[in-house]
Amino acid sequence: MQDESAQDFPYRTEYKKKSIRSYVIRAGRMTEGQRRAFDNYWGGYGLSLFDGPLRPREVFGREAPLVLEIGFGMGDSLLAMAEAEPDKDFIGIEVHPPGVGRLINNAGKAEVKNLRVYMADAVDVLNDCIAEASLDRFQLYFPDPWHKKKHHKRRIVQPEFVRLICSKLKPGGLLHMATDWENYAEHMLEVLEAEELLENTAGQNQYAPRPPFRPETKFERRGQRLGHGVWDLLYRRR
Ligand SMILES: C[S@@+](CC[C@H](N)C(=O)[O-])C[C@H]1O[C@@H](n2cnc3c(N)ncnc32)[C@H](O)[C@@H]1O
Repeated sequence: MQDESAQDFPYRTEYKKKSIRSYVIRAGRMTEGQRRAFDNYWGGYGLSLFDGPLRPREVFGREAPLVLEIGFGMGDSLLAMAEAEPDKDFIGIEVHPPGVGRLINNAGKAEVKNLRVYMADAVDVLNDCIAEASLDRFQLYFPDPWHKKKHHKRRIVQPEFVRLICSKLKPGGLLHMATDWENYAEHMLEVLEAEELLENTAGQNQYAPRPPFRPETKFERRGQRLGHGVWDLLYRRR
């Protein structure tokens, strides 16, 4: 469901019909600032699922390593990374409009140039917009764990999803995931170890230390307050 409280708000999360989704689009309330951010900054930062294949050279006006992050939430850690690595270009994908509003608001105010955003289903974007062997790094931080066993099929990390990511990574590109839910970490490890296109940078069946390029995320801090651990998984495409 989209936010029907915003009748004069023309920005909509984009997705195609599918039976199982990794998210629920909540009719989340937006702050006035987040809402205004769409009028001020969506034109500069927003990309559409329905515009077909992404041409990074045209979008960013340069040839640079490309990083893609799925589910950036409120976007603070993605913005920090884009600012910390100005030599790279960043694509963020998120279905939750208030988070998109917050990210483009802060990026716009900081005049960040190396970031663009899809407000869309990430699997649709991967399928329709991202070229094969075009990504230098893929990031998925604290994806919804879908705790209940009957909901595990909604977890975004599945063998076919990992295969799709691998096809989008350049040979030698990095795949980075993190979670604060041990049972999901074990599932990620099992799925990633089984993918023969991937090599675990930490050694077979091992979790990795948090690499210096990943800041703490909002969900990570929430997990820490609840006493959760954190598991990073860092693989290289062969
Ligand atoms: C638990 S939050 C984590 C947010 C952030 N990475 C962090 O660590 O603070 C997971 C996010 O993934 C988003 N999400 C889930 N499935 C998605 C999909 N298929 N495409 C885009 N975003 C998705 C949700 O809307 C949610 O904001």
